[in-house]
Amino acid sequence: MTRSSSPTFVITLISLVVLLLFVNSLPLANAADSCSASSPCSSSSSPCCSHSGFCGSGTLFCGGGCSPLASKTATDCMPMPVCIDRNVTLTPSDYNDTSLFVPVLQYAGNASQGLFTLDAGSLAAGPEGVMMQMTENSLVKLSTTAYILYGEMEVTCRHTAYQGVVATMITMSDVLDEIDWEFTTSNSSDAQTNWFPQGRIVSGSGKDSQPTSGTLDVSEWVTYGINWQPDRLQWLINGAVVRTLKRTDYSYPSTPTRLQLSVWAGGNSTNAQGVIDWSGGPISYTNSQYTTNGYYGMEISSVSIKCADTSIANVSTIGKGSNGPTSWTYTG
Ligand SMILES: *[C@@H]1O[C@H](CO)[C@@H](O)[C@H](O)[C@H]1NC(C)=O
Ligand SMILES: *[C@@H]1O[C@H](CO)[C@@H](O)[C@H](O)[C@H]1NC(C)=O
Ligand SMILES: *[C@@H]1O[C@H](CO)[C@@H](O)[C@H](O)[C@H]1NC(C)=O
Ligand SMILES: *[C@@H]1O[C@H](CO)[C@@H](O)[C@H](O)[C@H]1NC(C)=O
Ligand SMILES: *[C@@H]1O[C@H](CO)[C@@H](O)[C@H](O)[C@H]1NC(C)=O
Ligand SMILES: *[C@@H]1O[C@H](CO)[C@@H](O)[C@H](O)[C@H]1NC(C)=O
Repeated sequence: MTRSSSPTFVITLISLVVLLLFVNSLPLANAADSCSASSPCSSSSSPCCSHSGFCGSGTLFCGGGCSPLASKTATDCMPMPVCIDRNVTLTPSDYNDTSLFVPVLQYAGNASQGLFTLDAGSLAAGPEGVMMQMTENSLVKLSTTAYILYGEMEVTCRHTAYQGVVATMITMSDVLDEIDWEFTTSNSSDAQTNWFPQGRIVSGSGKDSQPTSGTLDVSEWVTYGINWQPDRLQWLINGAVVRTLKRTDYSYPSTPTRLQLSVWAGGNSTNAQGVIDWSGGPISYTNSQYTTNGYYGMEISSVSIKCADTSIANVSTIGKGSNGPTSWTYTG
């Protein structure tokens, strides 16, 4: 098959039964070689290139994050469930509801299993919402099970800003199309909007702190939005647009993507100096906030997703059925 730097995909009616048979032989499989688009996986027994760049099989390699460009063939990656409209309000007791947060090893590729996969770290009951807990040993990361191709996303969250701690609400596609809200440093007014088409830094991408007249306080409940449309991309705070890119002016993401929430240690000593500096400096695991709580957290209280009509994206559709197409599939 041919690989292209402009990946193409279709929406298909994949039989979930077939899909589940396929993934049930998992989830942990043999990881072997590293992989990249220039050096794709070549073995039939380990055909899938995971998000972290290793060949293997099973959900961890072929599921969310599997690279269609670096796998043996694009279609080795599991189909990506199409976007599902959501308005979810989270209360403290939801933290262990596996119909909202599916432990990633229990996820079998059926987006009806839950809103997010819990990819790393742990969740707990917050004072008012669900607390994502990053510890010295592990970041915490959630990814939507379904893939969004254009649409509107909003998340209401709050966290205490600390040097070296990075809290995020981003989109990440399997070909590294990325749209970001990122919160770094100990400055609780600082919010950054970034985007990276297929992982590339292009003219205009990179750090852009938002002009919020100094009124933003990330420790208060704030609703951050991304309105991603074929012709324009917008970032919003509490429903107000704070940044707009037009497609005619900028290259920005165009592939099916998961919404991800995370808290990670930008100031971890093993990171590159530039990352440590960007996150505000070295992270501390001895300050009272960390030692009292035992984690750096981000509390989330609502998530909403409004999917765009698939017809606007010029994606070819294979198959028809009473429930419509179920999956995105890269074809090259
Ligand atoms: C979510 O809420 C919006 C605004 O009230 C509404 O238009 C939309 O239909 C809701 N979506 C779902 C899935 O309930
Ligand atoms: C969730 O945790 C509560 C206590 O915090 C417990 O009573 C309940 O059984 C747990 N539910 C599940 C599904 O594990
Ligand atoms: C997908 O998950 C939902 C909810 O758990 C379940 O009702 C449905 O039967 C599952 N579909 C398949 C094909 O397993
Ligand atoms: C910090 O780096 C160490 C070594 O790479 C790693 O084991 C640890 O998980 C990292 N901590 C976080 C919070 O990412
Ligand atoms: C904190 O961030 C805001 C927004 O980027 C900026 O205006 C302000 O100067 C920053 N404060 C400090 C002390 O750096
Ligand atoms: C879809 O195709 C039409 C006709 O070629 C074009 O005008 C439109 O810009 C395309 N839309 C997207 C989102 O690429």
